[in-house]
Amino acid sequence: MKILVFGALNIDLVFSVDHIVLPGETIGSASLMKSAGGKGANQAAALAKAGLPVYMAGKIGRDGEFLLELLRSYGVNTDKVAVYEGATGQALIQLDKNKQNAIVLYGGGNSAITPEEIHTTIDSFSAGDLIVLQNEIVHVREIMEYAKKRGLRICLNPSPCNEKIKDLPLDMADMFFVNEIEAASLADMSPDTDIPRVLENLVKRFPHAEIILTAGKDGAWYGFEGTRGKGEIIDLPVADTTGAGDTFTGYFIAAREKNMSVNDALAVACKASSIAVSRKGAMESIPLADEVFFPGFDINAHKG
Ligand code: RIB
Repeated sequence: MKILVFGALNIDLVFSVDHIVLPGETIGSASLMKSAGGKGANQAAALAKAGLPVYMAGKIGRDGEFLLELLRSYGVNTDKVAVYEGATGQALIQLDKNKQNAIVLYGGGNSAITPEEIHTTIDSFSAGDLIVLQNEIVHVREIMEYAKKRGLRICLNPSPCNEKIKDLPLDMADMFFVNEIEAASLADMSPDTDIPRVLENLVKRFPHAEIILTAGKDGAWYGFEGTRGKGEIIDLPVADTTGAGDTFTGYFIAAREKNMSVNDALAVACKASSIAVSRKGAMESIPLADEVFFPGFDINAHKG
């Protein structure tokens, strides 16, 4: 079984500001950090740091080659990332004094992926392999349809949650990773609805998919058929929440692929994302397996 993450690779530009800038306002930034990000790349990094072999597919410009070097240093296979003569995707991130963020995306290479590249990439994978997708690149519908046709299992993180999501063939997903806002939107419920009610709605609406619902400090929920699970975060000081969801996704998948129980996988993923939010940056803040389990823990040897 192989894992392919087909998603965005971004250069993150993180501005440390007092507050998120208001319309018409100009504010200064105490610091500017250029770092590695993109939901796809972060999730691939989390899977690799958790100890799984993983392939990354996407597109960057030459300005983003440092992203590939970093991913390779974690063990991610980047052969399926195309390099073109344009700009890499960028995320302009404002991080305020309360560690809340606001992000503006520029698609760059993420918007330049072609149907031909999609087919060539997916042709290297076969029935039973897992494809991990987010909503930060073009042609997600085509990717889902072609992956399904080839028998791949589809894991969808519908983030960012925008109008494009409802046009996707959501019934093709075998697994959803959603935060509480995304979950309420998929369930057509108010964002104030109790999380367990939203979860039950999604379990009924997508009876063939595992639902993994994260809710920041409130932890994470799991629902599939008759099984329910709950994980709690570890209360660490918050430095930067960017990439926390990506860390959770990578670690949860890795733990499940290694036969850990649902509740153990939730605990592992909650711990990994708690550590990630205690550090600045996205991809670089994702902990290594040794930090999440215990020194010397070998995820490959774990039997749930
Ligand atoms: O999920 C976090 C990521 O979202 C950041 O790394 C940024 O690139 C944005 O895409």
